[in-house]
Amino acid sequence: MAEHTRPSVLVIDDEEIIREALEALLSKEGYEVASAATGQEGIDRLMTKQTGTTDRAERQRLFAEVQRIFGEEVPALYFAAPRLYMGVSSRTLNLSPETVEAAITDRTRAVVAVDIYGYPCELDELQAVCDARGVTLIQDACEALGARYQGALVGSHGPSAVFAFYPNKQITTGEGGMVTTHSESEVRLLRSLRNQGRADSGGWLEHARLGFNYRLDDIRAAIGLGQLEKLEDILRARGDVAARYAELLAEIPGLELPCPDDPEHERSWFVYVVTLPAGVDREGVISSLADDGIQTARYLPCIHLQAYMQERFGYRVGLCPVAEEIASRTLALPFHARLAEDDQAYVADALRRALA
Ligand SMILES: Cc1ncc(COP(=O)(O)O)c(C=O)c1O
Repeated sequence: MAEHTRPSVLVIDDEEIIREALEALLSKEGYEVASAATGQEGIDRLMTKQTGTTDRAERQRLFAEVQRIFGEEVPALYFAAPRLYMGVSSRTLNLSPETVEAAITDRTRAVVAVDIYGYPCELDELQAVCDARGVTLIQDACEALGARYQGALVGSHGPSAVFAFYPNKQITTGEGGMVTTHSESEVRLLRSLRNQGRADSGGWLEHARLGFNYRLDDIRAAIGLGQLEKLEDILRARGDVAARYAELLAEIPGLELPCPDDPEHERSWFVYVVTLPAGVDREGVISSLADDGIQTARYLPCIHLQAYMQERFGYRVGLCPVAEEIASRTLALPFHARLAEDDQAYVADALRRALA
């Protein structure tokens, strides 16, 4: 297996139990996969690989550099940071390539682009920006399993990508995640890093480098196998639920729905997040819906306004006006693969009344 830019085969380390299923499902798309214990861990390992160091202090320093791209210091790279939100497109809510270009400095090592709510990010443009500046692009596809960019599954395009299988994701292994990559050397390194730095030879007592115990265990892999068998059905059902919401909510004045697919972007439905009309009292809407027995969530708050970030770094409202504006108006509605049509109609009616 040589270094290549186009996908060829699917490879999973020792999780044989899910390898075959994944191959059957995804081989046409050409994944190469190394499993990870969690999505966050996948990013951590990718960063380690890209920066070429397993030294914790050095990685933290490099992480801080990456975070400075976006203007904050968070260990959780997968959530990026305030300037990521500043740089999002208000239509797709994904990272805007122009903003990345403006933010990259000579010290920037990597950019993490999220496919937020399962909508593929602007991979080509982001890759071009990163290539021009010699920066690594990492795709956080944790919410986007099954989404397609330019007709191909996310994770298969070139940048190494991370998937997560936490229970709120399209499929779950309880906890767990995966990295897809087109690089043989990266696959080898990731497999080693997640397996306490074991050598390529696979010998249990041979450690070639400092690693981690980030293995996806067989029990979780078995759960993943069962989930993978249902993946297509799950994605279809979630798509149907989303399409019904789009019809039911279309007539509510001023309500903005998730941006629709286009020939380049096919969403994998992760959550259903609407944007309330400007000026509406979101808390009032939430409590009105709660009175009707409908639970909603303020998806997603700005990271820089989380208590820890404010206390630790002194961030305040106003740092990221675009993200703050979006975050103050968005609301996740009840959403899952088996949501009944009647229940959706009930939610839509309640939301219409709450906004009247
Ligand atoms: C976009 C994104 N990235 C990363 C993660 C982290 O995945 P995990 O919980 O498996 O570490 C999540 C999980 O919620 C996510 O939605």
